[in-house]
Amino acid sequence: MTNNQKLKQWVQEWANWCQPESVYWCDGSEAENKRLLDEMVVGGMAVKLNEAKRPNSYYFQSDPSDVARVEDRTFICSKTREEAGPTNNWADPAEMKKSMRELYKSCMKGRTMYVIPFSMGPLGSNIAHIGVEITDSPYVVVNMRIMTRMGQKVLDVLGDGDFVPCVHSVGAPLAPGQEDVKWPCAPIEKKYITHFPETHEIWSYGSGYGGNALLGKKCFALRIASVMAKEQGWLAEHMLILGLTNSQGEKKYITAAFPSACGKTNLAMLIPTIPGWKVECVGDDISWMKFGKDGQLYAINPEAGFFGVAPFTSMDTNPNAMLSCKANTIFTNVGLTPDGDIWWEGIGTECPAGTINWKNKVHDPASGEPCAHPNARFTAPAFQCPAIDKDWENPAGVPISAFLFGGRRPNTVPLVHEATSWNHGVFMGSIVSSETTAAALGQAGIVRRDPFAMLPFCGYNMGDYFGHWITVGQHAGAKLPKIFYVNWFRKDENGKFLWPGYGDNSRVLAYIFDRCNGKGETVETAIGKVPAPKAINIDGLAGMDQAKMAKALEVTNDEWKKEVTLIDEHYARFGNHLPKELTAELDGLKERLGM
Ligand code: GTP
Ligand code: SPV
Ligand code: MN
Repeated sequence: MTNNQKLKQWVQEWANWCQPESVYWCDGSEAENKRLLDEMVVGGMAVKLNEAKRPNSYYFQSDPSDVARVEDRTFICSKTREEAGPTNNWADPAEMKKSMRELYKSCMKGRTMYVIPFSMGPLGSNIAHIGVEITDSPYVVVNMRIMTRMGQKVLDVLGDGDFVPCVHSVGAPLAPGQEDVKWPCAPIEKKYITHFPETHEIWSYGSGYGGNALLGKKCFALRIASVMAKEQGWLAEHMLILGLTNSQGEKKYITAAFPSACGKTNLAMLIPTIPGWKVECVGDDISWMKFGKDGQLYAINPEAGFFGVAPFTSMDTNPNAMLSCKANTIFTNVGLTPDGDIWWEGIGTECPAGTINWKNKVHDPASGEPCAHPNARFTAPAFQCPAIDKDWENPAGVPISAFLFGGRRPNTVPLVHEATSWNHGVFMGSIVSSETTAAALGQAGIVRRDPFAMLPFCGYNMGDYFGHWITVGQHAGAKLPKIFYVNWFRKDENGKFLWPGYGDNSRVLAYIFDRCNGKGETVETAIGKVPAPKAINIDGLAGMDQAKMAKALEVTNDEWKKEVTLIDEHYARFGNHLPKELTAELDGLKERLGM
């Protein structure tokens, strides 16, 4: 319980407006969790998985219209369109509130309104922040319990302090006697994922899936937090955080920003293929960073769980993720086997006959339809990861030595290259591009600019966000991380990946580690420093030779001249919000390319 008057009043106002059958304050206890899950099983929304195979784990299928983030229905409602910038959908905050209020009116009829106090970041860390989500979805409650620190202990820390208010409804009120469906939600044109940056508020309506509904994640920890970070001089980024220990026992922490479904979870917990090296996981999706007194940037993972892409996760590609979801896990939109376990494409075993697909039909491998939705996910507690870092909950964070940027590019972008200065590194981040994936509704496989992997997640004008990154580099006494750009996804002329990826990415991490110690030989190119031949260790790497490495590392001026044309178009969108430092970086690149 709480004496926070502002919180109590806010909850009361929304309860009056949404008209739920009852209001329930979540305490975060095991008993509460069990009760909600049992109720969902009885109600036909969840299936309890086979206790012997997948202890304390549950299976959900979403509505086919509600399977991923909806970028077209996501809004940044700053006072002016200009403050939201050219890359965000904007709507006037007063008008948006007016129309959404109409949607919320009596929208929880027949349902319980749950109040979820949650902390993004270890409780009490001075990098952490508290939010409160109200929702009519028990699925959201049990997911938030894994993904955040949640319940009474958060109210205790909150006291009468400030919180980020997050309103969520699936938008499916029940008439008296009306039977509920398996996955209540509203049709796509009624879904709204809305942010009010001036007042640090989040209003979400109509979707129950992932980042649309677990409001601590993308809505708070990225869109609203990026605004707070700009105001207060820190960084809120779509980055994994990993600890890397070399064969001499020296350890460094690295963060990496890759767009959705481009390999963060995989890199964050990889098992190195080079002897003696170790990777430990601090976080797999989001990093909040503040300068310490020593001038280093310290990162925390604001989350407490993994909401990971299931398909193609296997004991071969990512054993630590497989072991993280061995028990106490929620699976959404994967396949359900006849013996009550889960299955998905690329899990590493044959699909058992009679497996039910995510659409609740018997899976027919001949149909060409996947058994698991490509954006099927597991929600697993981070502490269950065998490679979790001992400092993953350290309230002070971990000191960061390098930033990586990357995306899916079948051509042009080499396996790894290094910035020659901070501003050059900011330039690299600002031009990140990647093929789209199933993590958002819309066509997959189209190359788009996704600066800093933040295109769908920046809560204000992206041009000003670039400017904030330039400013971070000017912090007095800063010991700044080195900046690199990686591409695991370059293909040869036959459309095959040039680089094996996964555990072998440790070879690139090792090179980066050495570069941070001033070692490792480089070659200057127009776009930055690339590894000299043999600088990346490929000992024992089957199917790889120096000729193929040269292909993976190649920088072709002709390809980059074409790229520069695209960067020109990309930059033109930001008008006078584009920092002059980045124009200078682009001019420098053009000059080096002889343009
Ligand atoms: P979000 O949770 O959406 O932010 O995604 P993520 O960035 O954590 O991506 P994740 O690690 O889940 O990887 C998504 C997909 O990329 C997986 O299904 C893998 O098949 C593929 N992938 C990951 N790492 C590699 C790699 O090194 N090489 C190749 N070729 N594919 C990879
Ligand atoms: C992403 O899309 O980058 C995710 C999944 O991490 S979601 O939580 O749905 O945003
Ligand atoms: Mn993500």
